[in-house]
Formats: sequence, structure tokens, C-alpha cells
Amino acid sequence: MNNNEKSKRFNIPTVFVIFGGTGDLSRKKLFPSLFDLYKKNRLPEQFAVVGAAHSDYTEESFRKLVSEHLVGGDDKKNEFLSLVRYVRGSFDTKELYTGLRSELAKIDDDIGQCTNKIFHLSVSPRFYESLLEHLHNSGLAQTCDSENGWTRVLIEKPFGNDLVSARELDDLLGRLFKEEQIYRIDHYLAKETVQNIIMFRFANLLFAPIWNGEYIKKIEIELHETIDVDTRGKFYDGIGALRDVGQNHLLQMFSLVAMDNPGVFDAHHVRKQRGSVLERTVLDADAEISVQGQYMGYKSIEGARANSQTETYFRLHGTIDSDKWRGADFILSAGKALREKSTRITVTLKEPLPCLCDSDIEGQYNQIIFDIQPSEKITVRFFAKIHGFENKITPKDFTFSYHQEEVEIDEIDAYERVLYDAVIGDQVLFASTQEVHAAWKVMMPVLEKWQQKDPVVYKKGADPKEIQ
Ligand code: BG6
Repeated sequence: MNNNEKSKRFNIPTVFVIFGGTGDLSRKKLFPSLFDLYKKNRLPEQFAVVGAAHSDYTEESFRKLVSEHLVGGDDKKNEFLSLVRYVRGSFDTKELYTGLRSELAKIDDDIGQCTNKIFHLSVSPRFYESLLEHLHNSGLAQTCDSENGWTRVLIEKPFGNDLVSARELDDLLGRLFKEEQIYRIDHYLAKETVQNIIMFRFANLLFAPIWNGEYIKKIEIELHETIDVDTRGKFYDGIGALRDVGQNHLLQMFSLVAMDNPGVFDAHHVRKQRGSVLERTVLDADAEISVQGQYMGYKSIEGARANSQTETYFRLHGTIDSDKWRGADFILSAGKALREKSTRITVTLKEPLPCLCDSDIEGQYNQIIFDIQPSEKITVRFFAKIHGFENKITPKDFTFSYHQEEVEIDEIDAYERVLYDAVIGDQVLFASTQEVHAAWKVMMPVLEKWQQKDPVVYKKGADPKEIQ
């Protein structure tokens, strides 16, 4: 989508309805991101946001709650807050939707036209079915007329708990909405350096010829966190790292690094390529390096079962069943309570043989490293001759970091990008139904195998390499 098209699509009066408007995600991410977009003039001039939840708030106390989570921009805060409304009710009762109907009608009256509506489901997945049905039956999801007032639904992961439930959810979504109205959020796709994977790979011919199993030895994708499950035991137990971040964030990063060139940068082409590489991916739970771990003390956190087998760490060996990727190994790992926070993709090339240097150095591999968190950079590791009479080589790095540049950069939170793209109707950074199904198909054999096995126990703060 070019810039012209973006600005044309963007300045149409739009209302966000956030189901679960008082929840953690709304307070920590959605409202702060909407406010950041507001400050940057990246929201339609005529805009409103309605929080919908069962908690007992008035419009005034809800605005106060939102205000506590907005950072900076004091001169714009009150202006933004005046656009915030609150409707109280349970997600599974008709009253909430009746209340919303009249609130939205009032907003449309004030603005003087039928506005676009974005319905953001920031609620526990157990409410999805009933909420979606109500949204549909109440007529809220209907567009105002054929010209104006589209409606879109933004839905947070998890998209189901396994392949069967993911299909059921998709069937429901498909019955109520068209695919172009459905925005399945995986906030990893919207992280700046994750987006850069696709640009870096396909904007530089330098790397295209070697991006295959003939030259690449292995690709490691890791999402390591130092935080533990903390107060999320009730949610996390029975979900585990594979479902929490493996089926989605990790496999999305994997698909970006391994997909074919889509040819065109639009939702149809990019999502198709991401989906088709996932369809050819196989994870081997029995491989020597594969492991399922649980940190010591996990079982005693609130919400975890005393005999829980839930994994808080996993490492898996993967391959892609295609001529292009024959010979390359993929290693996916993610977990909590680990030594270091690091979201990173490391592409290691095969060794060039023979080395023309005086003595072979251990591990003479070129590497391309995408650091996604906590630092954001891309490093290309190469070898160069050491100055002097001998033919010795040494590893050197070319590093690109946004933060090295002279110009100050405008930080964009992944949720800002998600919400902005939902307004302009760009689905590139959202998961398609094909991708969601393919990702579950990849994970199902591992989930089935590991549910009959106790995870190995590791100490909090462990080095992931030592979890065996
Ligand atoms: C969420 C998971 O989707 O992603 C969390 O539910 C995880 O368990 C989080 O901590 C990681 O996201 P980020 O953006 O903090 O790396």
C-alpha cells in the first residue's frame, strides 16, 4: 500500500470499541498506543474510543483510569480523554450490546456521519464465541451503508488451543465476518526489527543467492525472557510456552526468515508465502537437542497445578520439507525465568572450505544476526585478514542499529503499528487463517508427544544451553 493510498484510507471518522477496556492489555498497551498515535496525528481527525467491560466504572472514573496510563503529551491528554467513553456490561449478555448501540449512535450523531468501527477483543478467549455472536446478532458488526462505515474485528491470540479449536474459532469468524474484516493480532509481526527481516532479505541481492540449505547451516530463533510466570499462573498453566509464544510469535519470525520472496508487498502475497513455508515445516520433539523444561518452583505459583507438566521452556529442532531448504537446521527456543532477555534470530552459514588462511580458526562461519529485543540491530559477521606478514584471519562485524543513526528516531510500539494498520486496512502484519492453521499443524505432534512426558527441571536464571 503506497503512502497516498494510506492517507486516503486513514482520515475517515473511526470509532474503536475495546472489549475488555479496563484489562491489563488495554491499560498497558492499547490506550497508551492510541494516545501515542493521537499525539503523532496518526489517527483520523474525527475519532472516539469506547471501553466496554463489566467493571463498575463511570465515564469519569474510566477516563481517570486511562489517564493514569498515558505518558507525556500533557497538553493533549485532556483532549484525548474527552474522546474516551465507557459502556458497562457483561460480554455474554445482550444489555452490553444494546448499550453500545446507543453509545455508537450518539457518536455518529455528534460526528454527523456513519463512522467506521473497529471492535477489539481484548478479553479472555472463553468469551470469544458469545461476544462474536452478540456482535453479529446485535447488528453492530454491520456496515452503515455500502459506501461508508466499514466494521473490522481485531482479535488477540490465542486463536484456539489446538488445531480443532482454532478451526472452530475460524469457522465462527468466517460465518460472521469476511476475511478482510478479520485482523488476527500477533504483535511480533509489528515489531520494527521483525518487519526489517523481510525488507533486509529482499532489498539486498547480496543475501538472496545464499538464503537456502546449500549455504545456510542453521537458523536459530530464540525468544528468551528473564521474567517468570509471576501472577499469570491461572492463564499459563495448561497453556505453556509452546502455545503461549511458540505457535505464534516464534513461528511468525521463523516464517519471515524462511519464506520465499512474495514478489509484491501486500497482505495477499506476503501472508501466502508465510503460510506456505509453515505448511512445509516439521518440528521434531525427539531430536537430541529438543527439550521441554519447567523452572524450579513453578508448580507452587498461584494457579499452577501441583503436578503440572506445563513447559516454561522449550527447544525444538525443525526442518523444512523442500529442495531449497534441504541441509539446513532450524532451532526454535523460548522460555521464561532464563538468564538473559533476548529475542534473536541467528543465521549461520556453512564453512567455506578450504580456508586459504595460515591456520583454520575454530568456527569460521559467517553469521547474520537479527537482534529484536532488548537491542534492535542487524549484524553481519565476516572474516578479514589480520594486518601483518601472516595470512591470519579474524572475525569482524558490520552492525546496523537504528540507534546509531544521527537522526532521532520516533519509537513505534508494536501495538501502535497494529492499531494504525487496522485503521488503514492493511493486513500484512496480521495472521491469516492459513497461517494460523499451518502453525497449529506444526505444533500439534509436539504438543501431543510432550503432554505424556514430564519436563526437565531448570533453575531460575539458567543459561538455556544448559537445559538438557
Ligand atoms: C505474549 C505472551 O504474547 O508475549 C507473554 O503471552 C510474553 O507470555 C510476551 O511474555 C512477550 O512479548 P514481548 O513483546 O514482551 O516480547
